[in-house]
Amino acid sequence: MGVGVAEVAAASGCDVVVRSRSQAAADGTLLVLEQSLARQVERERRTAEEAAAIQARVRTTTELEDLCESDLVIESVVEDLAVKKALFSELDRLTGRDCILATNTSTLPVVELAMETSRPELVCGLHFFNPAPVMRLVEVVVPITAAPDTIKAALAFVEACGKEAVEVKDRAGFVVNALLFPYLNGAVRLLEHGVATMEGIDAAMTGGCGFPLGPFAVLDLVGLDTSLAILEALHRETGDATTLPSPLLRRLVAAGRLGRKSGHGFYDYRR
Ligand SMILES: NC(=O)c1ccc[n+]([C@@H]2O[C@H](COP(=O)([O-])OP(=O)(O)OC[C@H]3O[C@@H](n4cnc5c(N)ncnc54)[C@H](O)[C@@H]3O)[C@@H](O)[C@H]2O)c1
Repeated sequence: MGVGVAEVAAASGCDVVVRSRSQAAADGTLLVLEQSLARQVERERRTAEEAAAIQARVRTTTELEDLCESDLVIESVVEDLAVKKALFSELDRLTGRDCILATNTSTLPVVELAMETSRPELVCGLHFFNPAPVMRLVEVVVPITAAPDTIKAALAFVEACGKEAVEVKDRAGFVVNALLFPYLNGAVRLLEHGVATMEGIDAAMTGGCGFPLGPFAVLDLVGLDTSLAILEALHRETGDATTLPSPLLRRLVAAGRLGRKSGHGFYDYRR
């Protein structure tokens, strides 16, 4: 998600610094960005000059300190509260006093990240969708600690990115995932119960509901580890049985089958 968000911000005219933990990951970020922009030029969605200008606005680093002059930092690391909390505490130490700290979390409590900092009023959620350059929506998540000016600035940023903002409260899953994940989890249960094949369930939902992708294709796109983390966070907060992760999803994650990003999830992408 990080590279997609970087592309969106750079396309809106912002100078972007992407921080990865290793040089290899940083190089990978620039390559994915280059490939995404090349595809858009090929499809005549952008000129080669526009693509080059966007690429030139993105630089990478392995040092968190290099974010110290940013006006806005958007965290998009693994969906793990402990990892995100540690990062917010470091970001608070390293960035300027007026810098807004945002998280791209899908479900975790934004207020808990805010309280890791000395500036909870400057912390909010900016929840992009996958793939970020294509999907129109950004949920602007408002924790109870956020100042109105922070949300105003976040909404203005989303608008400048050419996206549609929906303001949401800081509740697990916000709007989209609170509605989407019980459905996706239900699809895995239907498969477990042998009601239809995976291909059959996907065909039923695309053909019968007009959805662009079936539930298994969506789970593979989101990533099965991220999907499991989202369901666990939803279940922790709501206790709702529809959000209890299905055993098959857990087994696939345990086996390292994480979806498109690992080449194999519900479907096999290695051919
Ligand atoms: N996948 C989606 O469809 C989607 C959509 C919207 C939001 N999100 C959110 O975006 C965030 C990232 O998700 P993703 O799908 O890109 O996941 P991913 O697994 O593809 O990438 C996670 C990144 O976090 C890094 N990371 C892992 N452990 C870390 C640590 N200890 N410290 C710093 N970095 C670490 C990894 O190296 C990797 O680059 C999550 O919060 C997720 O909920 C995901």
